[in-house]
Amino acid sequence: KTRSNHTAKASVRRTWHCQSDYCVNLYENINAEAGLCVEISCSFTTSSDFNPAHLVWYKCESSKSKCGDSDIIFHIYKNKIQSGFRGRVSLLEPRLHHGNCSIIISDLQESDSGSYQLRVNGYLNGEGTGFTYNTRTTVHVRGMESHYVYDYDL
Ligand SMILES: *[C@@H]1O[C@H](CO)[C@@H](O)[C@H](O)[C@H]1NC(C)=O
Repeated sequence: KTRSNHTAKASVRRTWHCQSDYCVNLYENINAEAGLCVEISCSFTTSSDFNPAHLVWYKCESSKSKCGDSDIIFHIYKNKIQSGFRGRVSLLEPRLHHGNCSIIISDLQESDSGSYQLRVNGYLNGEGTGFTYNTRTTVHVRGMESHYVYDYDL
């Protein structure tokens, strides 16, 4: 898949949000179109004694303070991913130590609109644990109908 067909329009700029040493840099809102893909651009840091092992992405109601296991849309174990997102979400930068948590979601549907939350799983003093960042990106997917209107204008 090429990256040239993603037409995500991110609003304003990305900003850092920190909870002690754990920081995430996300756009608050991203507009996208159904049928195309969207990049959720993201960077993260952890406390220096935390060793990141893998990332988890969730999508859940913004009213929920923390997404749960049933909200997983990206995970190293495919069976943990909601069936509707399997095979549609990929990391842009698989090398975790680069602090890049960006993902691409392809074949966007209007139902993909919603708030996306990041978790990093890893080890703190040798013990398996994880950290879920509070700040989320909200993706607004515009329906296909608008494409037809747009085509008419050409
Ligand atoms: C993440 O990595 C990808 C691929 O290397 C790169 O294109 C993108 O700009 C990076 N994003 C951030 C936020 O660093």
